[in-house]
Amino acid sequence: MHSIQFALDDGSLTGTTITVAGWVRTFRNDRFIALNDGSTIRNLQCVIDQQEVDAATRARFTTGASVQCTGELIASQGSGQRVEMKVTKVEVLGDSPADKYPIQPKKHSLEFLRENAHLRFRTNTYSAVFRMRHQVSFGIHEYFDMHGYNYFHAPIITASDAEGAGEMFRVSTLDAKQPPLNDAGAVDFKEDFFGAESRLTVSGQLQAETAALALGKVYTFGPTFRAENSNTTRHLAEFWMVEPEAAFMDLHGDMDLAEGLCKHLIARVLRNSMDDLQFLDARAKEEDAAKPQAQRNEMGLIERLKFVLENPFERITYDDAINILLRSKPYQKKQFQFPVEWGVDLQSEHERYLVEKHFKKPVIVTGYPAKIKAFYMRTNAPGDFGYSEKGKTVAAMDVLFPGIGEIIGGSQREERLDVLEARMDEMGVPKEELWWYLDTRRFGTVPHAGFGLGLERFVLFVTGMGNIRDVIPYPRAPKSAEF
Ligand code: 4AD
Ligand code: MG
Repeated sequence: MHSIQFALDDGSLTGTTITVAGWVRTFRNDRFIALNDGSTIRNLQCVIDQQEVDAATRARFTTGASVQCTGELIASQGSGQRVEMKVTKVEVLGDSPADKYPIQPKKHSLEFLRENAHLRFRTNTYSAVFRMRHQVSFGIHEYFDMHGYNYFHAPIITASDAEGAGEMFRVSTLDAKQPPLNDAGAVDFKEDFFGAESRLTVSGQLQAETAALALGKVYTFGPTFRAENSNTTRHLAEFWMVEPEAAFMDLHGDMDLAEGLCKHLIARVLRNSMDDLQFLDARAKEEDAAKPQAQRNEMGLIERLKFVLENPFERITYDDAINILLRSKPYQKKQFQFPVEWGVDLQSEHERYLVEKHFKKPVIVTGYPAKIKAFYMRTNAPGDFGYSEKGKTVAAMDVLFPGIGEIIGGSQREERLDVLEARMDEMGVPKEELWWYLDTRRFGTVPHAGFGLGLERFVLFVTGMGNIRDVIPYPRAPKSAEF
């Protein structure tokens, strides 16, 4: 058996007899099967001899049917492909009744395909997206392996809220209707499976830090869970995050690592996914043409990827960002929905203004106000990068991408025990529960840094898709966990 990709691309196969198998995309003129096996977005044209294949069998070559074909690969008579197969033997492996199969050879809406998520991989759009998701995932391992990072498996179940945002899903085996109660009348989690209230992780960072302070460089790459009730095109309740963590690295090293990773992944998809990119590029242009001028992309997908690859990311401080926003047209014309003043968190509309209108390239913002960032970030002092006279800042960095907004969040970590403890008290983070984390600062603490890249947000960027639910196989979002 040969993959269709090989059949189409390996010139030495022309003139030989091979076998391929896949799913029928279309069957035209009672002769031409467009066969796709998922190895490439391109179909192999399999030409049937009507004398050899009876009408009853030909009637079974419906869209979605699985078929195995054997025959000679010959130079193609038609345009559009280099070779086609002159079929000598064909077998239907699985029928697909045309009146019932939901995926027909026409343009379906993405909403319709989301409702048929189990079959959407069989469309050009989704097969392209998921081949590219693979390329990005594999590229992540490649990049960190190349740079000496150890793949570290952080636990999925945890008792600690790494981000301190309280947006966690509980993991419990207690009877939901009649849980055991303690003397105070509250649910007694001592009786629960883990003997303490446990949850699904929002980040593997705290555990990764303990490993970085021994192995030097580590990265986690796995599913993370957030029970934030945001029904947006950028948020999922279950998403994949990559979190590198390195000892002896400061914020500058962290930014270099983040920019290097993004560029490595873009270079990889430009090298390995060109067929899929061309398809998605054309698809996005078609979608764009239907939009008002102001909402259209100035660059096509491939052009955008090359542009990001070839240009250094802009690096600015939070103070710079606020000043730019205060001077911006949308601010002066009161077009921003959310307020802009020193101390506020940047909203997606602000991030996208900086990236898409002002700098027109990815931007890394550093030195955010301490009160809007997590407890583990390093507090800046005068002279530190990102220090501000306006209030306490931390050595945070967010990488902002066109069309997406925040794609990476990271920081240099607070390695000084006393400063860290004071910050935890200030923010109400329980020190007793995180005794093991604080031990890393008690014994051989060192400067260290890391970040988290949201895999789906990155896949959104490289595929040019508009909704995060279209780049994860089975999206989990508020009120939605089907399949
Ligand atoms: O900025 P976040 O919350 O950072 C952390 O979790 C840190 N512990 C990372 C670290 O320093 N090791 O999340 C990191 C990234 C975001 O920039 C975003 O790309 C993605 O994770 N992300 C989400 N993606 C999809 N759906 C959600 N609900 C997401 N929340 C965050
Ligand atoms: Mg963040």
